[in-house]
Amino acid sequence: MTPRLTLSQLTKRYGDVHALTDVSLAVAPGERVALLGHNGAGKSTLMKIVLGLIGFDGGTVSVEGAAPGSTAARRMTAYLPENAAFHPALTGRELVCQYLRLRGQPGAQAGALLDRVGLAHAADRRIGTYSKGMRQRVGLAQALIGQPALMVLDEPTSGLDPVSRREFYALIDDLAHAGASVLLSSHALTEVEARTDRLVILSRGRIVAAGTLGDLRARAGLPLSATVTPAPGAIAAVRAALPPDADWRDGQARLALPVTTKMGFLSRVAALGGQVADVEIAPPSLEDIYTHFSHATPPDAAEPRQAEAA
Ligand SMILES: Nc1ncnc2c1ncn2[C@@H]1O[C@H](COP(=O)(O)OP(=O)(O)O)[C@@H](O)[C@H]1O
Ligand SMILES: [Mg+2]
Repeated sequence: MTPRLTLSQLTKRYGDVHALTDVSLAVAPGERVALLGHNGAGKSTLMKIVLGLIGFDGGTVSVEGAAPGSTAARRMTAYLPENAAFHPALTGRELVCQYLRLRGQPGAQAGALLDRVGLAHAADRRIGTYSKGMRQRVGLAQALIGQPALMVLDEPTSGLDPVSRREFYALIDDLAHAGASVLLSSHALTEVEARTDRLVILSRGRIVAAGTLGDLRARAGLPLSATVTPAPGAIAAVRAALPPDADWRDGQARLALPVTTKMGFLSRVAALGGQVADVEIAPPSLEDIYTHFSHATPPDAAEPRQAEAA
């Protein structure tokens, strides 16, 4: 399938700041891709380039063969900017109506769009009275106008409570099932986790890892965390049986376990029988994986100027 969005060796500088270096990425129809990175990683810059709002210094960008910002590309693309601010005196309906007219569509569709993002009940209230989550949803209603084939959403779930976030992703799932491609960004991996098809981690303007969460988990090779709770009165016996580097707190031992040692460890714990009240083994957290990759520097990324600054 032809990708809907293709970036090839994209490079962007702001004066001396290397905002993006050699970024290559393709998003297929119906695919949801999350762009992850700390503040300043280059997420918004990448999105603004895709929208044609700013230029770039090297590489190529294609929205189904069209140049970013061209009429053909703009017709296909919707955008939710980071921290989208809307006029607080307008109601949700008035705002969406205004955007519909700008796109040459009947304003009467505003009600249906607001319903789609769960804002029907607040359509006639002023945006100034909306919560952050409601403002994000108005932004999303605006982005849904004209059934865009490519949705570019900059930190759409930042500041949303877990329920609003779940509703947001349910809507994104529907759009992707209907064939829309979604590129969204976030600075927190826990906000996107399993709800996207692919994660792309940007660090200082470079892609440092890309794949499904499972791929990234395997590639990071981070240890598991084990927690062992001794039975009452059995702390000394369990302590003697566990490796000396176990971290004892609140009567429990915590250990970092390389993945390959898991079964051996479990049989040692099982051999302690009734002296152990409980054992838990947890995979590395999403945040651990994210931190692992977002602090990693790719082997070819050494830049003399950065070395001097360090
Ligand atoms: N208009 C600009 N002028 C100069 N530097 C900028 C501008 N916009 C962004 N930058 C810099 O480019 C880098 C990437 O920024 P940005 O794309 O906003 O990152 P993110 O969205 O991941 O937080 C940062 O170092 C930022 O300071
Ligand atoms: Mg940003």
